[in-house]
Amino acid sequence: MTIRFDNRVAIVTGAGGGLGRAYALALAERGAKVLVNDLGGARDGSGSSLSAAQAVVDEIVAAGGEAMANGASVTDAVAVEKMVAFVKERWGRIDVLINNAGILRDKTFAKMSLDDFRQVVDVHLMGSVTCTKAVWETMREQAFGRILMTTSSSGLYGNFGQANYGAAKLGLVGLMKTLSLEGAKYNVRCNTIAPVAATRMTEDLMPPEMLAKMGAETVMPAALFLVSNDAPSNAIVNAGAGGFERAYVTLTRGIHVDHADMTPENIAARWDEISDRNGEIVPDTGAAQGMMALGGMR
Ligand code: NAI
Repeated sequence: MTIRFDNRVAIVTGAGGGLGRAYALALAERGAKVLVNDLGGARDGSGSSLSAAQAVVDEIVAAGGEAMANGASVTDAVAVEKMVAFVKERWGRIDVLINNAGILRDKTFAKMSLDDFRQVVDVHLMGSVTCTKAVWETMREQAFGRILMTTSSSGLYGNFGQANYGAAKLGLVGLMKTLSLEGAKYNVRCNTIAPVAATRMTEDLMPPEMLAKMGAETVMPAALFLVSNDAPSNAIVNAGAGGFERAYVTLTRGIHVDHADMTPENIAARWDEISDRNGEIVPDTGAAQGMMALGGMR
């Protein structure tokens, strides 16, 4: 069945270019009214302009869709609240939020200033928190909401020179996990995408022949499914260049010992058993994992 977004209202942050633009165009093509947000700054977060967001709105409108531009920084809670209020006033509801806005300030940790760290955490993690907080009550009241966070392989697996970015990006996975629990009762589902795509963020990191295979449109199918009516919740999906995989935070069976054996030496002696991935599981919640540690589920 064709996935449609008729009568749905979507907000896509950082949608003036790259992945966000691809999501906004595809959502609009499939019937959604789209608020295209973008601060319009440089890759490191400096500067601002509404023209990038407006250009995407113009594209959507030219193709017969409905869209509005907004230049709020996702880190500005007052501006984000105004943006959300404006969308509700014009279109009556908010069904989809894609938290996509982001910046890079790559450096080795040794050379990274605390300001570079804070800025990146502020935009990715707190920016997503700010936008999500602004729509959360509306989605609960509507008993419908689909929220997508944007993580990265840097957060899930680490990348040299991206300590700030990796920390912020894995923070979003933690946020998604709890929101998917708290939203379940209200039909508010929350997922996370880990894209890999040729955008200005990656243009100087990979060779051109590789970039040619990974346009933003290769990530879009997963993003749209993850905010659709039949979306799952609590999924982490890696997408790009035709590859679609799921990532999990797993738990090994480990060992369970009596008090007398709870020594650092015993951990050293049994390290291989603790690390053995045979039979590893994915706990439903942190509380469930705690119960396992207590031996309740062994
Ligand atoms: P991009 O730089 O083209 O897009 C990011 C957009 O966010 C820009 O248009 C920028 O103006 C906007 N933005 C930055 N700060 C903002 C703020 N404070 N408020 C509102 N908008 C703001 O890069 P790309 O690749 O499209 O990135 C989209 C998302 O995907 C980011 O969260 C990025 O970290 C993530 N990502 C991208 C990967 C890739 O391979 N391209 C890999 C992993 C994650």
